[in-house]
Amino acid sequence: MDYKIIKDRHILITGSSSGIGRATAERLLAAGAIVYGIARDHKKFEPGTKRYKPLTIDTTDFQALPRQLSELLAAHPKIDGLINNAGYGSFDGLENFSPEQIYSYINDNLTSHLVVTRCFLPHFKTKNNGDIIFIGSEAALEGGKKGSLYCAAKFGLRGFSQSIRQESANKNIRVTLINPGMVRTPFFDDLNFSPGDDDRSAIEPTDIADIILNVLIMRPGTVIDEINLTPQKKVISFD
Ligand SMILES: NC(=O)c1ccc[n+]([C@@H]2O[C@H](COP(=O)([O-])OP(=O)(O)OC[C@H]3O[C@@H](n4cnc5c(N)ncnc54)[C@H](OP(=O)(O)O)[C@@H]3O)[C@@H](O)[C@H]2O)c1
Repeated sequence: MDYKIIKDRHILITGSSSGIGRATAERLLAAGAIVYGIARDHKKFEPGTKRYKPLTIDTTDFQALPRQLSELLAAHPKIDGLINNAGYGSFDGLENFSPEQIYSYINDNLTSHLVVTRCFLPHFKTKNNGDIIFIGSEAALEGGKKGSLYCAAKFGLRGFSQSIRQESANKNIRVTLINPGMVRTPFFDDLNFSPGDDDRSAIEPTDIADIILNVLIMRPGTVIDEINLTPQKKVISFD
């Protein structure tokens, strides 16, 4: 595969300040791409290159988001890739979530990706090309105890990505869903469990970044629909 072609790419990543998004930004920058990074707090990641464009945007601010993204695309029409990655985990029995918490969770982890994609799709259709990558999860494939909200969001994302793939294929837009098992990131900082310490108990965020780079440089005409990956060992530590 020709890694040099990434130098011509302008890629937007949501949730670029931490974890998978940050590792992906670093990987794409190292390969020569221009990277636009959306997060609410950029102090966590300042790569110090002009090829990284930090954008302070809350992807759940649905009043401001369409205007912010349409101004962005007008100012940077070369953007030809979107990585929908922002999100957080919340795991408990359903009855322990209030209706407001459910609403807020689905907004951050599902609806925001639908709205961001809605804003980008006309731009990619006009360009007659574009890559849209979603970070799903193994929770997009199978439900599990205390995972009702997380699985609802990730199952939804999977159905959405399949539909958008079919809707936009004739405009040369490729849609990929990546479904990782546990990845060693700050995702677990506010949770009462995390991957075991052994390096075979978690995927590294750099592994996902490498996959994303390879998806982006795949020969035009071939689409990687979905990729599932898991740590070799399933060891979970509980606090
Ligand atoms: N870690 C895992 O085991 C794992 C496994 C499978 C899938 N995933 C998925 O991978 C994605 C990234 O998770 P991660 O592990 O990299 O977690 P992370 O290190 O906590 O990063 C989450 C990122 O999302 C951003 N974000 C969250 N809500 C946002 C909002 N409303 N507006 C803008 N940015 C927002 C955060 O930035 P700010 O806080 O600065 O805004 C941060 O950059 C998530 O969709 C997660 O479900 C993670």
